[in-house]
Amino acid sequence: MEQPPRGTLRSLGAAAEETATPAPGSTQLLTDTAEAGEETLSLHFPSGWCQERRLGGGGGKGGGAGSVRAASAAVMAGFVRELERRGGPALRLEQRGSGGVGCVVWDAALVLAKFLETGACPLARRNVLELGAGTGAVGIMAATLGANVTVTDLEELQELLRVNIENNKHLVTGSVRAKVLKWGEDVTEFQPPPDYILMADCIYYEESLEPLLKTLKDLTGPNTCILCCYEQRTVGKNPEIERKYFELLQVDFELEKIPLDKHDEEYRSEDIQILNIHRKQRNFPS
Ligand SMILES: C[S@@+](CC[C@H](N)C(=O)[O-])C[C@H]1O[C@@H](n2cnc3c(N)ncnc32)[C@H](O)[C@@H]1O
Repeated sequence: MEQPPRGTLRSLGAAAEETATPAPGSTQLLTDTAEAGEETLSLHFPSGWCQERRLGGGGGKGGGAGSVRAASAAVMAGFVRELERRGGPALRLEQRGSGGVGCVVWDAALVLAKFLETGACPLARRNVLELGAGTGAVGIMAATLGANVTVTDLEELQELLRVNIENNKHLVTGSVRAKVLKWGEDVTEFQPPPDYILMADCIYYEESLEPLLKTLKDLTGPNTCILCCYEQRTVGKNPEIERKYFELLQVDFELEKIPLDKHDEEYRSEDIQILNIHRKQRNFPS
């Protein structure tokens, strides 16, 4: 398999024509190209394929999520993804070699985190909530840009979120904390509505669509801006899941695609979209 040049990102587990779809359950990342003396490991989802996507300069030790410099023995225990920042040292994001799909940094997270850095959306002193945060890459980036952030995910991701918050706290100019938020459940503790809700790669299994939409409805106020970054996948049930999600979403929300030329110059890809979503304003007759 061709190795990506140092400093480029190769998607985790991408097929010849298609990048990986996170499975809703637990996913084991398999390593199969780590040979004795080789530093570069390629990570594969069980489907066993891999494709390059060139996103950004990668920078720092390790390059992409799928091209990680580490000792092979250390891989299943954890490995670090560095995400370069315009304003200073890179974020260091610990990942896990096994566990749920949130244990690694997905490409949509890189694209959204780097979009935040463009300054298109003012973040300083804004209240931000990230859903399905996984490693916390996006929310922690927002906190380095001055936002007061709550990164949320399921209980099993809390330890990883806390580790990544701790590892990057010296870069944070706002604030950041981790909390459990399971989609569809009570969100009282996250009120009042935040200024921004961030979501990266959260549209991927059917059972989650209605709970996720309920959470979005429960959390948003008239001025909340939802930035939803997702990867368009064309195999299996993915197109249907995406179609259904947008059909349901548009009952209560309006959305606008952020053009590719507004994304970070390097961390962009034709098949990764960022949407700016707002609650529809209800106009009642006077
Ligand atoms: C594909 S991962 C994306 C992680 C991260 N946003 C990224 O892009 O790197 C999807 C995330 O959604 C979370 N998730 C899935 N179902 C969820 C649910 N019902 N409630 C809360 N979080 C959920 C997973 O735990 C996981 O962290």
